Amino acid sequence: MLKSTVNITRNLQLTNSAAKFVGRVPSQSRLISYTRNKPSSVMAHRSPTQGKQLPKTTNIEDWARSDIYHNSFLIPQDPVLDAALKNSVANGLPEIAVSVAQGKFLHLQARSIQAKRILEVGTLGGYSTIWLGRALPEDGELITLEINSKHAKIAEENLYNAGLFPKCKVITGPGHESMVNLPSESKFDLIFIDADKPSNLKYFTEAKRLIRQGGIIIVDNVVRFGRVADPEQSDANIEGVRLLLNALKSDQDVDATTMATVGEKGYDGFIYAIRN
Ligand code: SAH
Ligand code: DHB
Ligand code: MG
Repeated sequence: MLKSTVNITRNLQLTNSAAKFVGRVPSQSRLISYTRNKPSSVMAHRSPTQGKQLPKTTNIEDWARSDIYHNSFLIPQDPVLDAALKNSVANGLPEIAVSVAQGKFLHLQARSIQAKRILEVGTLGGYSTIWLGRALPEDGELITLEINSKHAKIAEENLYNAGLFPKCKVITGPGHESMVNLPSESKFDLIFIDADKPSNLKYFTEAKRLIRQGGIIIVDNVVRFGRVADPEQSDANIEGVRLLLNALKSDQDVDATTMATVGEKGYDGFIYAIRN
């Protein structure tokens, strides 16, 4: 069933050259407010207003336009990735893949460490999988874990169309179970965790067993519009991130930071960890 295709490649009115490039425009208009004078007690490191000119409010369209603008210089239009999203939307998959710029970021991370083996938890339609899979050398391998057999099927189609089959393999089943069944002997260079957020800590714990020393573990969606840091807010996803952060506080096995992001998906961020 065709749900909506407007999100995929609709470009904002920019310049002619920008129109050639990829960027998704969110369907709903979520208002993002910058509070200019937050009490300094909530700012752990510096005042947000020091010497800066910030707009009072921004909205999701502003950040979508920002992504499109930057992408227009750095990320050429890509019919294969567009087709993967189009196929995912046409089959009713939720539109929650990483953004274009985030996908490229994952790709660059994998290339920067010359990753040969990559593990992903949470495939959806394989959009992030394609970005990561393309970073692999000829003899590289990516395994991606997905619980939903319909998602897995669409992802396999998209990976095949991207020329990444069988280099990228989808394992259908509960992600944690699939991870537990992977042997410790053949380590991964990069692991991307992007499945159900309540299981973040379980995935991270298995990821530590499966990652090589110096390898990278990236966890998606850990900022959640700042809600994770707001004591007034709670839901299963927020608590899943908090559980992971609490465990990382005393975890000597990894060194980690949260890299907050803003763009077409609004305010969010990755945890970026390196295995000691
Ligand atoms: N990485 C994808 C987006 C993944 S969305 C991208 O950026 O393109 C999250 C996915 O995790 C969904 O497809 C969902 O079905 C899957 N998922 C949810 N619970 C899971 C579980 N227990 N095990 C494996 N996958 C799960
Ligand atoms: C959701 C999941 C994601 O992995 C993401 O990047 C955005 C949203 C979600 O479940 O809503
Ligand atoms: Mg995600």
